[in-house]
Amino acid sequence: MWGHGNAVPLHDCGCTIQRSVHVQIVTHFLTTMPEPLQKIERTLQQLEAGTNEQVSALFVEVRKKFNDQEALRRKENNPTNLLVFWTTWLGRKSGVLTKITENWLKPSPPDLKRIVGQELNSLKAHIEAVRLEQTAATEMAAESAASLREREDLSLPGVARPLGSRHPLRQTFEEIERIFLSLGYSVVAGPEMETPYYNFEALNIPEHHPARDNMDTFYMAAPSGAAPLLLRTHTSPMQIRTMEKQQPPVRIIVPGKVYRRDNPDATHGFMFHQIEGLAVDTDITFCDFRGTVEYFVREFLGPKVKTRLRPSYFPFTEPSVEVDATCVFCAGKGCNVCKQSGWIELFGAGMVDPAVYGFVNYDAKKLSGFAFGLGVERLTQLKYNINDLQLYFQNDVRFLRQFA
Ligand code: DAH
Repeated sequence: MWGHGNAVPLHDCGCTIQRSVHVQIVTHFLTTMPEPLQKIERTLQQLEAGTNEQVSALFVEVRKKFNDQEALRRKENNPTNLLVFWTTWLGRKSGVLTKITENWLKPSPPDLKRIVGQELNSLKAHIEAVRLEQTAATEMAAESAASLREREDLSLPGVARPLGSRHPLRQTFEEIERIFLSLGYSVVAGPEMETPYYNFEALNIPEHHPARDNMDTFYMAAPSGAAPLLLRTHTSPMQIRTMEKQQPPVRIIVPGKVYRRDNPDATHGFMFHQIEGLAVDTDITFCDFRGTVEYFVREFLGPKVKTRLRPSYFPFTEPSVEVDATCVFCAGKGCNVCKQSGWIELFGAGMVDPAVYGFVNYDAKKLSGFAFGLGVERLTQLKYNINDLQLYFQNDVRFLRQFA
């Protein structure tokens, strides 16, 4: 027997189209069918087909009809038509093959049974072969469409995941730390909220001293009677805190944030970064100080750079100096950056004022040392010729990328 298989969803064996709709479609299809398919509604007797030849001729007509419809269906290539088409031909209850079995084969006279059976089987085999071919083609089309969709195009560019990089200020911190660690210094950190004592008094800046003027800063609201607190204006308080805790020899650097009540512009910000330095021992001379400063500047800005010390004033150093370097942009010849002087100011420094030792119970007669305070933004600006301090804090990747 022929079978309509499981691969083709036939309506009358449980398809997805609502049954009433399905019946309508098939009925419409069958009633509008031109000759010869109407012939399957009648018996051979009614059709007056009494010989083998007449029977075969009827099957030829049916097969031709099938082939024509199949060709049309193939051209239209519509999934709904496909369903109707196969239901029309293979439907279990009212498909063409079923009708032929019911109307032609079963009631046929015994002498025609054999030819009807043969012709019917051959027609079924033909229809079945076409159906198999059509199923395979549909599956293949679906597969190649899917594989086209899922195909990995290895020639497409990959997803670029942006790599982060260290901020230029962080790079300067690390570079300076590297230099001083190589000289035997240790790195210490201190609080950003300080008492006036550590920020000023113990650094030899008494209450009404004019040196406080340019260090105006932010004071915290404190409960009445409580010791006032402020945001540190420099990293120098850590000189005091370290010497309070530690006996000489002391060799430290202190990287960190500091705050001042300054309006932001190209050279100022209300927060910036410093690295404090302090060396105290029994035999530290001005030569050690000068040698250390020169070594640091050459390591940081390059071996050709020369330094000079200019007298200056800080309450906690005596003598105090400003450390200048030959301009890195014009090699000392004079340019816009150094205002034609050939020199640029790097940082403040000096020999520790003996008065400071008094605040930490160090013996000023036996000890000596030096200190320095590096502005990290300024040193970075000089190293890379950055004209605006605000660029550090705007997080513009076009700026930051240059330091990646
Ligand atoms: N604390 C000073 C400031 O913020 C910088 C400074 C100058 C620090 C000289 C020092 C020093 O240790 O010796 O302006």
